[in-house]
Amino acid sequence: MPISIISVLKPDSSAISHPGAMVRNSRTLFATSFTFLPFIVGAWASLNWTPCDPKSVQSEFPVDCAFFPIPLDYFNHSAGTGRLSLIKMNATGERKGTLFVNPGGPGVPASEVAFLGLDYMTWTGGNYDIVSWDPRGVGFDTIPSQTMCFDHSTEFHQLINGTIEDTGIEWAGNFTNSTDIATLYAQALVMEKIYQAIAQACKDAPTGDTLKYIGTASNVRDMVALADTLDGPGSPVNYWGISYGTLLGAWFVNMFPDRVGHVILDGVVNIADMALKQSYLSWGDKIHDDEKILHGFATACALAGPLACNITSEGWTGAEVLDLIGSIIDAAHVMETESRTDVVASETIRELLLDAFYEPSRWAATSGELGRFRAETADRGRAGRLETMVSGARYSKRQSSQMDGTYFAAQAIYCADSVDPDGTTMAQVLQYLVTLTMTVSPTFGALWPVDVFYCPFWSVRAVERYTGPFGKKPARPILVIGNTADPITPFTQAKQFADVMGDGATLIQQNGFGHASMAQQSKCVADIFQGYLNNDTLPAGDDTFCEVDDDQELFPGVNTREVISKLYAE
Ligand SMILES: *[C@@H]1O[C@H](CO)[C@@H](O)[C@H](O)[C@H]1NC(C)=O
Ligand SMILES: *[C@@H]1O[C@H](CO)[C@@H](O)[C@H](O)[C@H]1NC(C)=O
Ligand SMILES: *[C@@H]1O[C@H](CO)[C@@H](O)[C@H](O)[C@H]1NC(C)=O
Ligand SMILES: *[C@@H]1O[C@H](CO)[C@@H](O)[C@H](O)[C@H]1NC(C)=O
Ligand SMILES: *[C@@H]1O[C@H](CO)[C@@H](O)[C@H](O)[C@H]1NC(C)=O
Ligand SMILES: *[C@@H]1O[C@H](CO)[C@@H](O)[C@H](O)[C@H]1NC(C)=O
Ligand SMILES: *[C@@H]1O[C@H](CO)[C@@H](O)[C@H](O)[C@H]1NC(C)=O
Repeated sequence: MPISIISVLKPDSSAISHPGAMVRNSRTLFATSFTFLPFIVGAWASLNWTPCDPKSVQSEFPVDCAFFPIPLDYFNHSAGTGRLSLIKMNATGERKGTLFVNPGGPGVPASEVAFLGLDYMTWTGGNYDIVSWDPRGVGFDTIPSQTMCFDHSTEFHQLINGTIEDTGIEWAGNFTNSTDIATLYAQALVMEKIYQAIAQACKDAPTGDTLKYIGTASNVRDMVALADTLDGPGSPVNYWGISYGTLLGAWFVNMFPDRVGHVILDGVVNIADMALKQSYLSWGDKIHDDEKILHGFATACALAGPLACNITSEGWTGAEVLDLIGSIIDAAHVMETESRTDVVASETIRELLLDAFYEPSRWAATSGELGRFRAETADRGRAGRLETMVSGARYSKRQSSQMDGTYFAAQAIYCADSVDPDGTTMAQVLQYLVTLTMTVSPTFGALWPVDVFYCPFWSVRAVERYTGPFGKKPARPILVIGNTADPITPFTQAKQFADVMGDGATLIQQNGFGHASMAQQSKCVADIFQGYLNNDTLPAGDDTFCEVDDDQELFPGVNTREVISKLYAE
C-alpha cells in the first residue's frame, strides 16, 4: 500500500483481508437472500449473528459475524443495495449498549478490531458489545467490496515500472541539490499520466460503478442505521474512532449531533482541511512533528548507549546520533542514484524510521536494523540489506501487497471525500513536496506514494460529502485525545478540533510518542476512558495532561518522560 496515512495498527499485520476470506459458506448463503429484500432502514429486529470463521477473524475472544443491508445511496433508493460485513464481541458485563469501533486506514478491516478484542473489553469495562464493520470499499465481504483496479498485478507493475511510484523519491539533505530536484520534476508528466490511468482503471474495473457510493458520509449513515437496528431507533450512538476513524467520528458528531452517545476520537486528523482543501495539501500538517520525533528517537538512542542502541557511541549526544542517521540516509541516497541496483534506497530508510515512529516498542529493533545496514554497507562498499524490520515495514508493501493485490481502498475513500479536482497538476504536487522538505521536514517531506496524492487525478466523488459546519453542539460531550509526539496525527490537530467543538468536546493530551493513545500505555488515560464510558465522567477543562506509565521505555532503561522533557525543553 502507499503510505497509509493513519492506520494505527501494525503495518505487518494482515491489515487487508485475504481474498480467500470471501469464502464463508453459511454467511454467503444468508447474504444472497438480502438482495431480494426491500431496503428499509432499521427494519431488522435482529441480525443473524453466527460465529466468525476463525480463518478470517483472529481473536482471543469469541467473535460473531453478520451482514447488514445498506442502500448504496441514502438519497436514491433506486441505486440498489449493498451490505456491510460486521463483527461483534458480546459485552461481558452489564450491557450498556453497542460501542462501534473504526480502526483507521482508511481501509483497515474490522477483523483488526477483533485482534485487539481483549483490550477493548478492558477499556470498556466489558459493558458494551464491541461492533466493527468493513466499510464500503474495504474487504471482500462488504458490498461495495474492496476497490481493485487491475486484473493482474503485472498490469500495475508495468504501468509504474521505474517511476517514483515504483522506487520512491530520492533526495539528500533537505532537497536542495539541483540534480535531485530536476530528476523529480522530470517525473511530473509521467506520474500525472499514470495517476490518470490508475483512476481510469479503477472506474473501468468491476468495482468501478460503485466508487461513488464509497466515502465517509455514507459510512456515517451506515453506522447510524446500524445503531437503530442494534440499540433501537434513535438510540445514542457510542463510537471509538482511531486515526482515519476520527474523520468518520467528526463527521458523525456534526451530521447527527442529537445521536451522540459516548464518542472517543483518538489520533485526530485535520478535520476541516480534509473537507475543504485539496487533500494532498494535508500531508505537511500530518508530518509536522516528525523532525522533532526523529530528534526524540536519536536522543533516546544516545541515552540508551551503544549496548542498547546500535547507532550511538559511548558519550554521544542526541545531535550526534541525528547526524549519523542523516549520513546513513545520504549514503544510501548516493549509492541508489549512482547505481539503481540495490534494494535499499534512502527512501527505504526514511520509511523504516517513520514506520517505527508509530510504535515506540519498535524503536530498539529499528536502531539495530540501521546499525546492521550501516555495518554491511561499510563492508560491501555498496548498500547493505535491511531484512528483519523491512519485512514489517511499508517498504515491503511497495514490493508485495500493493503490487500483488493492487488494493485501492484508501485512495477510493479519501478521494471520494475530497473536494472536486481543481486542475492541480502533478508538477504542483511535486513542488509542494520539495517545499515541504525544505521548510517542514527535511527527512520525511517527500515520501512517495501517499494515498492523498491521488485525489487531484481521481475523478469520482462520493454522492454525499460533508463539508461542515463543524462545531455543532452534540447531545453529550465527546472525548478527544492526542499524543504529544504523534508521527501522522500531530497533537495540534486534536486541539484544533476540540477547540472548534468548544464545550462539546473535552481534550486530553497523552504525553508520549506513537500514533494514537494505544501506542503507549497510560493508566491516567485508561482511567479517563473507563470513567467516561462506564460512569459518564470526564475531566473538567481542556488541559488534562496524562503521562504514560513509567515502564513505557523507548529503549531498555530509557523512560519516555525523560526524553520528552528534553525534547520540549529545547
Ligand atoms: C453473544 O450473545 C448472543 C445473545 O445472547 C448469543 O446468542 C451468542 O452466542 C453470543 N456470542 C458469543 C460469541 O458468545
Ligand atoms: C438514482 O439511481 C439510478 C440508478 O443508478 C440512476 O439511474 C438515477 O439517475 C439516480 N437518480 C439520481 C437523482 O441521482
Ligand atoms: C521493468 O523494466 C525493466 C527494464 O527497464 C524490465 O527488465 C522489467 O522486467 C520491468 N518490470 C516489469 C514488472 O515490467
Ligand atoms: C547533487 O547530487 C549529485 C549526485 O546525485 C552530485 O553528483 C552533485 O555533486 C550534487 N550537487 C551538489 C551541488 O551538491
Ligand atoms: C548491531 O550492529 C551489528 C553490526 O555492527 C550487528 O551485527 C548486530 O546484529 C546489530 N544488533 C542488532 C540488535 O541488530
Ligand atoms: C535547507 O537547506 C538550505 C540550504 O542549505 C538552508 O538554507 C535551509 O535553512 C535548510 N532548511 C532546513 C529546514 O533545514
Ligand atoms: C463515578 O461518578 C461519580 C459522580 O458522578 C464519582 O463520584 C465517582 O468517583 C465515579 N467513579 C468512577 C469509577 O469514575
